[in-house]
Amino acid sequence: MAKLWFSCCVIVLIQVFEFAVSKPEFTTTPPLPILPLPTSSQLKWQRRELIMFLHFGVNTFTDSEWGTGHENPSIFNPTGLDAHQWADVAAKAGFSLMIMTAKHHDGFCLWPSKYTDHSVISSPWKNGNGDVVQELVDAAKARGIDVGLYLSPWDRHDKRYGRERLYNEYYMAQLQELLTRYGSVQEIWFDGAKGSNAPNMSYYFGDWFSMVKELQGSINVFSDAGPDVRWVGDEQGSAGTTCWSTINRTSLSIGNGSIVGYLNTGDPKGTDWLPAECDVSIRTGWFWHKSEEPKKLSKLLEIYYNSVGRNCVLLLNVPPNSTGLISDTDILRLGEFRKAIDTIFSTNLAEGSIIKASSRRGGKTGGFGPENVLDDDHLWTYWAPKDETKEDQWIEIRGKEEGLRFNVVRIQEAIGLGQRIKQHEIYADGNLVANGTTIGYKRLYRLEGVVHARHVRIRIKESRGLPLISSLGLHFDPFWHPKGT
Ligand SMILES: *[C@@H]1O[C@H](CO)[C@@H](O)[C@H](O)[C@H]1NC(C)=O
Ligand SMILES: *[C@@H]1O[C@H](CO)[C@@H](O)[C@H](O)[C@H]1NC(C)=O
Ligand SMILES: *[C@@H]1O[C@H](CO)[C@@H](O)[C@H](O)[C@H]1NC(C)=O
Ligand SMILES: *[C@@H]1O[C@H](CO)[C@@H](O)[C@H](O)[C@H]1NC(C)=O
Ligand SMILES: *[C@@H]1O[C@H](CO)[C@@H](O)[C@H](O)[C@H]1NC(C)=O
Repeated sequence: MAKLWFSCCVIVLIQVFEFAVSKPEFTTTPPLPILPLPTSSQLKWQRRELIMFLHFGVNTFTDSEWGTGHENPSIFNPTGLDAHQWADVAAKAGFSLMIMTAKHHDGFCLWPSKYTDHSVISSPWKNGNGDVVQELVDAAKARGIDVGLYLSPWDRHDKRYGRERLYNEYYMAQLQELLTRYGSVQEIWFDGAKGSNAPNMSYYFGDWFSMVKELQGSINVFSDAGPDVRWVGDEQGSAGTTCWSTINRTSLSIGNGSIVGYLNTGDPKGTDWLPAECDVSIRTGWFWHKSEEPKKLSKLLEIYYNSVGRNCVLLLNVPPNSTGLISDTDILRLGEFRKAIDTIFSTNLAEGSIIKASSRRGGKTGGFGPENVLDDDHLWTYWAPKDETKEDQWIEIRGKEEGLRFNVVRIQEAIGLGQRIKQHEIYADGNLVANGTTIGYKRLYRLEGVVHARHVRIRIKESRGLPLISSLGLHFDPFWHPKGT
């Protein structure tokens, strides 16, 4: 009896042991990425969604957009300048980065540069002892906001402009000042504007970009051609309805008007990750003008849907006035803008729904189930279909008894593994309510009317490899009144 009990026990033990060895509970691995991929700085940039631009300088005092370069520095006197007000406005509106015009085309420098006296040094503001860049940096830091800078290559004041080597040396000397004196700079903004007096002078972009990267390791360089962030191709804040973060850098050149269409849509075959930034002003002009008013809330929301909602970052210009403060009307409008975005997107009407999909990678315990689209991680947890799935791929939100009522659909791809989706359709109870091409980090659809449905299905019609969806949202936008409703 004792012997029998012993051998039984051994058999059981062996079986338990064998089971443990032959059935290891390894987690399913993530799918391979599809190149190109974003850098960590580009990912950080993408998640900002909103960046504030501040155009400020002598033009603020002369009611002009492009200064001549002949402005007398004595006109620059923003007696009430308070960068803490700017940073406060930015923080409340949800901007995590502020980019300022350290020098615009007129050549007047907002910081005391060693290489010119056409700057705050020669102005009456703070008796020539002021430094607007420093004030911005200090105020932004106090609010936990990052700083970016714009240094205009075109210079209508400096005598060196047009003399190629001398001017490039001057420009680089100023870049070095800006990128070594003020701590961390997260974005630098270049345009290709050139004076008609020097059409043949080259800007040494290669030298400039190398120097920038040397001095600031995590900076994003913006220009028509990147290398980190590309221009969207217009100044209306509107990306293409197809908008790839990928493009061929070799096909781009700075200041070339014939590539704006390509910049607007990107390239599904693009070999470089170079996402688009949409620059637009809250007012008509870039600089403050007494006669101008901020855009209407409905216009700002349209811009938001056409930029952030099309896989881009919105760079919204909010120009300080001649007192050195952001105007009350702009603050009011930004407050409305923030409140509207929060009203629309802080509630996901899909929450609590059951999520189904055509298939899931690694089965029920693989970790890639469709329920991942309702969590707060919009990058690294996602729904992935089974590798071998060839047929239609879809993911569906199944609402509760009372159904789903919404007029905005939000779809996000797990772009950390590459941008993939090329064509998709959205169905509500079997009826097509929206369709499009790219998704990218975030795609937003405002529908023709309010939809009331039990099921909402996203069908992926075409994709580079497996589609990976990181987040889905159904929202209600009370500010959206499409024509004819
Ligand atoms: C610019 O270069 C073109 C072609 O080489 C030449 O014809 C033109 O005279 C140059 N213009 C100036 C302002 O140097
Ligand atoms: C501008 O872009 C077009 C279209 O890609 C190209 O053919 C042309 O060579 C470019 N021009 C310059 C000056 O780079
Ligand atoms: C971009 O580069 C890829 C790879 O070389 C190429 O297949 C594609 O045609 C290029 N796109 C354009 C618009 O030339
Ligand atoms: C600038 O804006 C502030 C409000 O923030 C206002 O008090 C001031 O009067 C404005 N300055 C001008 C010149 O409009
Ligand atoms: C969307 O659907 C319409 C109607 O079926 C079709 O004409 C259009 O090409 C589709 N657009 C996209 C981007 O798939």
